[in-house]
Amino acid sequence: MNRLSFLLSAFGLLPALAYATSCSCKPSSTSFGVPPSLNTSDGSIFTGAAVDAKPLSLNSSFDPDVSLMHGDSGNTGDTDYPAPLGNNLTISSAAEQIAVVVWASDGGMIAGYGNASTSPATRAVGAVNSSTFEILASWTAPVNQTLNLGYMEYILDTDDVLLSTTQGYIYVVHRENCDGVPSFTLRRTINLTATIKPWEWMLNSMIDAAGNIWFTTGGIIGSGDPAQNSTTAGYVAPDGTVHAIHIENQMVENGIGVSGTSMYMATGPSGAANMSSNATGYMYAFTSDEGTGLKTVWKVPYNAGSGGKPGEMTRGTGSTPVLMSDQFVAITDNEDPQINLLVYHQEEQESAEAQIFCKVPLFQPGASSNENSVISHFDGDKYGLLVQNSYAAPIFELPGPGFTLNGTWNDMSQMPGGFVRVDVDPKNGCEVRWTADLASKTVTMLSTKTGLLYSYIQDKTPTGQYDWYAVATDWATGEIAWKIMLGSGGIFNDNWLPASIGPDGQFYQAVFGGMVSIKDGL
Ligand SMILES: *[C@@H]1O[C@H](CO)[C@@H](O)[C@H](O)[C@H]1NC(C)=O
Ligand SMILES: *[C@@H]1O[C@H](CO)[C@@H](O)[C@H](O)[C@H]1NC(C)=O
Ligand SMILES: *[C@@H]1O[C@H](CO)[C@@H](O)[C@H](O)[C@H]1NC(C)=O
Ligand SMILES: *[C@@H]1O[C@H](CO)[C@@H](O)[C@H](O)[C@H]1NC(C)=O
Ligand SMILES: *[C@@H]1O[C@H](CO)[C@@H](O)[C@H](O)[C@H]1NC(C)=O
Ligand SMILES: *[C@@H]1O[C@H](CO)[C@@H](O)[C@H](O)[C@H]1NC(C)=O
Ligand SMILES: *[C@@H]1O[C@H](CO)[C@@H](O)[C@H](O)[C@H]1NC(C)=O
Ligand SMILES: *[C@@H]1O[C@H](CO)[C@@H](O)[C@H](O)[C@H]1NC(C)=O
Ligand SMILES: *[C@@H]1O[C@H](CO)[C@@H](O)[C@H](O)[C@H]1NC(C)=O
Ligand SMILES: *[C@@H]1O[C@H](CO)[C@@H](O)[C@H](O)[C@H]1NC(C)=O
Ligand SMILES: *[C@@H]1O[C@H](CO)[C@@H](O)[C@H](O)[C@H]1NC(C)=O
Repeated sequence: MNRLSFLLSAFGLLPALAYATSCSCKPSSTSFGVPPSLNTSDGSIFTGAAVDAKPLSLNSSFDPDVSLMHGDSGNTGDTDYPAPLGNNLTISSAAEQIAVVVWASDGGMIAGYGNASTSPATRAVGAVNSSTFEILASWTAPVNQTLNLGYMEYILDTDDVLLSTTQGYIYVVHRENCDGVPSFTLRRTINLTATIKPWEWMLNSMIDAAGNIWFTTGGIIGSGDPAQNSTTAGYVAPDGTVHAIHIENQMVENGIGVSGTSMYMATGPSGAANMSSNATGYMYAFTSDEGTGLKTVWKVPYNAGSGGKPGEMTRGTGSTPVLMSDQFVAITDNEDPQINLLVYHQEEQESAEAQIFCKVPLFQPGASSNENSVISHFDGDKYGLLVQNSYAAPIFELPGPGFTLNGTWNDMSQMPGGFVRVDVDPKNGCEVRWTADLASKTVTMLSTKTGLLYSYIQDKTPTGQYDWYAVATDWATGEIAWKIMLGSGGIFNDNWLPASIGPDGQFYQAVFGGMVSIKDGL
């Protein structure tokens, strides 16, 4: 899923009881236990030291210009927004079930959240006050429809939010912010229930530079979505014409990438193709071909292994395709016993073999898997790619019978972990630049303003409880600059929810019990 990407698919199931330890009456502005500011010299919660910014070249721009969980239309996970350097950090938190955060062009926080006043929680998109986490306006799908919040997209040119529902609808919801009073208005409804198969769930929707809305079916089995023996993918042209292909025995389990009028999609084996231990998944490149129809530009198989690795949320690749400018596209495979980073040329090559620019084994045999999108940053010469090892990560947890808030579902100590940076030199190939001893489930983010990677980890030396830290790592060297404890116990488990960096310079982490953020103090 990018995995991480997927987490949201089960999000609406989180019941209000997740907040039982904190507040009940007014969740939107209630802190659940974190002091508002902390002394960063206090070694019990802050280790390391504040650093000077080491700015990087700006992020690659993509057309269309959008904001989504993985950053932009290319899912690069880097941002030009500032972020904390570690100076006198202050922490905020709220028990609001904010899961996925995107950013409007005026800096407004737009979030996918669960409304805990209904059971199960109703999924909605909201305009949020990024300092108090109060939800100022919201939109929910028509009754009996389930929003796919993980892959919602904010279109910066038009201030429209693009959302799909598992039932097969796509909604274009316009966001206004008149005199600081936000509101949402439904602009367009696209009904694709006759295009997708009755057993398929809609998963992705993304606009391209020509205004076509791409979509795929699929789901994340590890978060409770059903296995599906086929996929429907395609686009809806601005005039409403639907162009689609149907693929047997494959399932999309992640987000997609869009650039210009091209769409990149990875599938994992399902149905009859799920049986073999060396099953095959595919990486696809499509184009809307100047309005003449859907064209498969290339399709290359990858080794999806047996799908039996501990901690896996997906059957095939766990990686949403990341676009490296207009040159390459990267995912990870799921080969046994060791996965690989696969970097493909975006432009069609002579053969499937030639389509692959490089293949790099990741982590250690028997202790290697990835359920997150790769981060990509281009320094004008080489691309730096970051992959995090998800092997043996605790599986996504939902409250139910026998659920224990502070139980072993929080325990990440069995993860071998590992963050690896691979440099891709278009002239000379690919090589590992550094590895770091970090284990995380979140969607890590890179700030080009600070040159730091921001992630969310658990303390490796347990104190008898599960302690959760935001950690900043030097993008150039892989050295950990600092980490700060944001809380303890199940409330503060990210539970596969993503992180985000905002235009206000804050690092945000969605957690089981709500939202936590940090920013530099004075
Ligand atoms: C911060 O903590 C350090 C170490 O405990 C202490 O020496 C210092 O006085 C504290 N500063 C403030 C402003 O509380
Ligand atoms: C990424 O770069 C584009 C083009 O330079 C810029 O408009 C955009 O604000 C940047 N996005 C983020 C999230 O930094
Ligand atoms: C934090 O605040 C203190 C007191 O205001 C100040 O002396 C110090 O320079 C600040 N920065 C750091 C990194 O401690
Ligand atoms: C949550 O749902 C309740 C009941 O439908 C509604 O009154 C309330 O406005 C909703 N709150 C948010 C923040 O969506
Ligand atoms: C957010 O809340 C703070 C504190 O109440 C307030 O000062 C600020 O104006 C609010 N911002 C927005 C965008 O509503
Ligand atoms: C929603 O689903 C319930 C349960 O299946 C059904 O009774 C109800 O008629 C549905 N409502 C609409 C508007 O479709
Ligand atoms: C969506 O399309 C299907 C199939 O054409 C139709 O049965 C259904 O009524 C439509 N839904 C709505 C809300 O119009
Ligand atoms: C795919 O799954 C659906 C729903 O389970 C089933 O009806 C259909 O027969 C399956 N198709 C194949 C080719 O097995
Ligand atoms: C693959 O097969 C396993 C074992 O039968 C099953 O649990 C899983 O849901 C299947 N995955 C897909 C994508 O079909
Ligand atoms: C799966 O493929 C790998 C090479 O990718 C090979 O070493 C292994 O023997 C194969 N396993 C099976 C069960 O075919
Ligand atoms: C869970 O652990 C946290 C942190 O140790 C503690 O504050 C909280 O009371 C615990 N909650 C339960 C229900 O055990």
